[in-house]
Amino acid sequence: MSETTGNSGSVTAGSEELTSRAVKLFESELAKLVDSTPRSRDLFERARKVMPLGVASSFQAAKPYPIYLKSGDGAEVIDVDGRHYVDYHNGFGAVAVGHAHPLVAAAIERAAHSGTHFAVTTELTVRLAEELCRRFRMERVRFVNSGTEATMDAIRVARGATGRDTICKIVGSYHGHHDSVMFSVTPSLMLIKASETQAMEPPASRGIPAEMAKWTLAIPYNDLGAAEELFAARGSEIACLIIEPVMMNIGIVLPRPGYLEGLRELCTRYGIVLIFDEVKCGATIAAGGAIELFGVQPDLACFAKSVFGGTPAGAFGGRADLMDEIGSGIAQQGTFNGNPLVVAAGLAALTEVLTPDAYEHFKKMGARLAEGCRKAISEYSIPAHVVDMGCKGCVSYRPEPLVDYRSFLETNADLFNASWAWLVNRGIFMTPGNEEQWTLSVRHDESHIDRFIEVFEGFCAAVNP
Ligand SMILES: Cc1ncc(COP(=O)(O)O)c(C=O)c1O
Repeated sequence: MSETTGNSGSVTAGSEELTSRAVKLFESELAKLVDSTPRSRDLFERARKVMPLGVASSFQAAKPYPIYLKSGDGAEVIDVDGRHYVDYHNGFGAVAVGHAHPLVAAAIERAAHSGTHFAVTTELTVRLAEELCRRFRMERVRFVNSGTEATMDAIRVARGATGRDTICKIVGSYHGHHDSVMFSVTPSLMLIKASETQAMEPPASRGIPAEMAKWTLAIPYNDLGAAEELFAARGSEIACLIIEPVMMNIGIVLPRPGYLEGLRELCTRYGIVLIFDEVKCGATIAAGGAIELFGVQPDLACFAKSVFGGTPAGAFGGRADLMDEIGSGIAQQGTFNGNPLVVAAGLAALTEVLTPDAYEHFKKMGARLAEGCRKAISEYSIPAHVVDMGCKGCVSYRPEPLVDYRSFLETNADLFNASWAWLVNRGIFMTPGNEEQWTLSVRHDESHIDRFIEVFEGFCAAVNP
């Protein structure tokens, strides 16, 4: 998710010897990558003259330069040098339908031929709203153009409805790049004492007024006691708690049993709007996302990425009494919201592709991939563990599962870097950041999974022979 993978200041998993082998392996694999991607390098030189970092979004930047892609079909992508990969990056988890899925492509084509934009709500938009409400157990929904807009507008509704300005998020969580949530995104170890509740650090970007920190509190994930303590002290000031029910910006961190239920109860007790950020979980870890998987109903929830079949759109919704405040003084708008192009893709994705069969397929493929990785990790004594959830999963380089951001700081970034370069040189396309996870699509089959396992096993053998 970003170009940085450094975990300075923490206890890193793995021996010094292993880490130094990982560093050397990364260097030699990077040299190979540079040798075999001259067209990416040339395109980077062109791109950096017209775009900062040579990319359309800073999350796409990589060192020494990004691999630029030309096309994708199903589970595979091809780069500008003509190299083929099995895609586990999947557009940061936005393409669970797979690239150029014929049903999604047909829906987009129909929309392209009948008008891509009117700034008037179409029947298709109403149908998608109905489907979103059904799938995610919401009473009302509104459309936006990205995950960032979804969380921004959900927070606005929460603030408007409660008349409170302060919001609460989770230490080290990512909810997009609007100002309110750009605090405590990648805090240093010094700043995350378990008892700390106020985000005392500067904003995660220059250009955000430092004083805004006073409106954004942060509590550690999986720590119900910290939530209870903060809400008891300041609950009457807090408009909402925004949380990724499964933390997915630091690998994958599962909620402890009872954690989400406990937050639900606390938020109700203190009149705090509970917002689930399901931008990554929605329609990936289960058909109905975390809401279905854990059976906990938030007041509002945010969606984007795979829900819209790989097109740039988002949505948020939930309780009717909160959402209907939009009609009485809360601004929520946008020229392209719910336009026919993205709505056609979203509807095709949710109703024609991401069907119950798709989730059975994800379960089988995910289990096969996780099992294969676990076997290699155990055989070569790699300090790592594997998480598998629907079409999402990851290898995190720390032997024990993560519980919060602090434990993420103990993962071995050098092992990740070496594994990334090794995989990419052997036809496995992954995000160049250990904060991310794999995303399978409905088009990944056993041969794709087995290819990953074979290459991953080769990496384990190379780094810890
Ligand atoms: C949990 C979460 N929320 C919000 C966002 C922001 O979404 P977008 O990049 O579409 O603005 C992301 C993006 O990765 C995300 O992972």
